Amino acid sequence: MARGPSWMATVLAVAVCALLGLAALGGARAQQLNPGYYDGSCPNLYDTTRRVIQEARAGDPRILASLLRLHFHDCFVNGCDGSLLLDETPTMASEKAAAPNDRSARGFEVVDAIKAALEMTCPGIVSCADILALAAEISVELAGGPYWRVMLGRRDGLTANFNGAQNLPNPTERLDELKRKFAEFGLDDTDFVALQGAHTLGRAQCSSFQDRLYNLSGTMRPDPTLDQAYLAELRQRCPAAVSDDDAALSNLDPITPDTFDNSYYAGVQRGRGLLRSDQAMLSAPEEGAAATAPIVGRFAASQADFFHSFATAMIKMGNIAPLTGSMGEVRRNCRVVNGY
Ligand code: HEM
Ligand SMILES: *[C@@H]1O[C@H](CO)[C@@H](O)[C@H](O)[C@H]1NC(C)=O
Repeated sequence: MARGPSWMATVLAVAVCALLGLAALGGARAQQLNPGYYDGSCPNLYDTTRRVIQEARAGDPRILASLLRLHFHDCFVNGCDGSLLLDETPTMASEKAAAPNDRSARGFEVVDAIKAALEMTCPGIVSCADILALAAEISVELAGGPYWRVMLGRRDGLTANFNGAQNLPNPTERLDELKRKFAEFGLDDTDFVALQGAHTLGRAQCSSFQDRLYNLSGTMRPDPTLDQAYLAELRQRCPAAVSDDDAALSNLDPITPDTFDNSYYAGVQRGRGLLRSDQAMLSAPEEGAAATAPIVGRFAASQADFFHSFATAMIKMGNIAPLTGSMGEVRRNCRVVNGY
């Protein structure tokens, strides 16, 4: 009599194990991230991180933009593993020295301050990769943008990837090439257009768009897609004779530079995308803008639509190849691997 049920229990147990095994094989890495990862081990994580960012912001309104960008530059190189934060050593080149980051990526001191504050209350618990993910969300929120539940549980990588950082998206690349770089990480056209909307915050140096003002791809002419009044304004700030001192900064969103809103897309619609890569989404038909232009229009028309898509895309970006379980480590100091 007892045979039937026990036989069935065995079959069931085997089936459950097989299912769990399959689940573990498919996308286990991303599945191990969850918003409550530190609820027990570091309950003050969110409040502490937010407080340090607020303090930094009081003296430097741009810091929200800078922190948001760090998460992007981290995730696109070796996955979201904090590799961007490692300083150079005699045997390892730093990602910070790669062209897209050199004299451009900023906010590292604030990341240090967040880490130091967390090490006081929950030592050795919170990874630097997770600090970047959380700081990005808090920065967007503080600037007036959307809120989302940040997935957590990433661990920190043991090495930097200088060459990977050299290959980060570059504003002079073709739109189709830029889209390919996002698609490689499972980020589709909607994600791509939404994530570019991060340029609703922050600044760029003249060197990031100088070619558009005087000599677009060797034509000796300015970029024809640039609005004329905007071109004149930018030329004033960025004279033809390039100086080494690239101190002049321009707002990536000329309409509301420090507010996270959808006016960046309205700017693009008016020929006021600052970087070539911003404008190309709408104005480079020969590079595949037919797919992205309608999305620019959609986000320009609806801030709610943009906010929703941005939050979704940020969670997807934050899921790029995280280290979980016993992979990597939780760094004590974001600039160096433990025991170095
Ligand atoms: C096609 C992709 C992208 C390209 C080519 C690109 C390129 C750039 C460049 C050239 C700058 C100015 C750097 C300087 O002059 O110092 C910049 C700034 C910035 N980028 Fe991007 N970016 C891209 C996508 C993203 C994404 C996906 C995010 C975040 C989700 C982001 C966030 C930012 C922010 C917030 C700033 C301003 C930083 C500050 O003021 O410190 N960008 N980007
Ligand atoms: C214009 O650009 C081309 C290629 O991008 C470059 O070879 C040339 O030297 C530039 N000319 C000037 C005057 O800057």
